[in-house]
Amino acid sequence: MNSRAFPAWRVQRAGEGIEARLDRLTPDELSPGEIVIRAEYSSLNYKDALALSGRGKIMRHYPLVAGIDVAGRVETSDDPAFGPGDAVLVTGSGIGERTDGGFAGRVRVAAKHVIAIPSGLDTRSAMQLGTAGFTAALAIHRMEINGQAPGGGPILVTGASGGVGSLAVAMLAGRGYKVVAMSGKPEAQKWLGELGAEEIILSREADFGDKPLESARFAGALDTVGGDTLARLFPVIDWWGNVAAIGNAGGAKFQATVFPFILRGVSLLGINSMATPRALRETLWERLATDLKPAALDDIAGEEIALEQVMRSVELLMDGKGPLGRTLVHIP
Ligand SMILES: NC(=O)c1ccc[n+]([C@@H]2O[C@H](COP(=O)([O-])OP(=O)(O)OC[C@H]3O[C@@H](n4cnc5c(N)ncnc54)[C@H](OP(=O)(O)O)[C@@H]3O)[C@@H](O)[C@H]2O)c1
Repeated sequence: MNSRAFPAWRVQRAGEGIEARLDRLTPDELSPGEIVIRAEYSSLNYKDALALSGRGKIMRHYPLVAGIDVAGRVETSDDPAFGPGDAVLVTGSGIGERTDGGFAGRVRVAAKHVIAIPSGLDTRSAMQLGTAGFTAALAIHRMEINGQAPGGGPILVTGASGGVGSLAVAMLAGRGYKVVAMSGKPEAQKWLGELGAEEIILSREADFGDKPLESARFAGALDTVGGDTLARLFPVIDWWGNVAAIGNAGGAKFQATVFPFILRGVSLLGINSMATPRALRETLWERLATDLKPAALDDIAGEEIALEQVMRSVELLMDGKGPLGRTLVHIP
């Protein structure tokens, strides 16, 4: 057996579809890059589940190692900015989509995508946050640049029991916002309250009216569901409020009127965690290590699995039977 070999969840074409296998690879078989990271943790995102199950066209080519997130220690570096042993992370920079990803013992990656883990976080907590935490932080950051502030009224978070949603609830509550969580899962209500939501709305009971403008109920909203759920929010957002559009788990298309935008000055902010410029990425990780760091990270990403168990967790996630919050992948 090759002593440099490590396990990696690699996706290959198989007939019309794809097949995911836990292969053994060596660093030379990975996509090029100046840095080789000895992975310690990754995490399971909705996108990873789509990629590994073949239910979404996430990967640009095959074969490719899955996993859009990784944190670990630099093993070798051809870039002076990083040296062996440095604690680093990579989230949503194309790994697991265009280049080999984080569900592997080693990850080789371009130095421009590598972020030094700021003090206040370690490889484990960085992956408890992962792309989901980064995305929630990006949405909050953009909303705040656009005038959102604690004390301005409640913020609605949809898809609240998911990774992005639950982290957004905890971050907003920690920042002093009044948070209203909307979730399809009755069993998530108590947990969302513990994370800091002051009010919980069950998705199937949500009634925001059907007029182009309704009485304002929320100062802003962070939406991970998309489709009709997103469209129904605009009429109930207060003056100058922001709606951050993050996900499409509940649909891509929506129909809305322009009135909330032109009569109340509501803003729709698009959130793309992949294409975030490096300077903003560093700012956001600083915030994730300080004012946006959720107090109860273990309650949000308490489920820890071994690399070998990734496919089982993917199946559960795709069947809607995943745990509340996030799943951490430990790569010893
Ligand atoms: N824009 C970006 O850069 C970016 C980055 C990361 C993720 N995302 C997107 O954000 C969304 C959430 O990601 P995640 O990693 O947090 O996923 P996740 O952990 O699987 O959470 C998704 C949540 O959405 C709700 N949901 C799922 N299916 C739904 C459906 N058919 N109808 C309505 N609600 C549904 C559920 O929450 P409840 O049961 O509580 O309602 C679920 O827990 C995904 O669409 C993902 O692709 C976007």
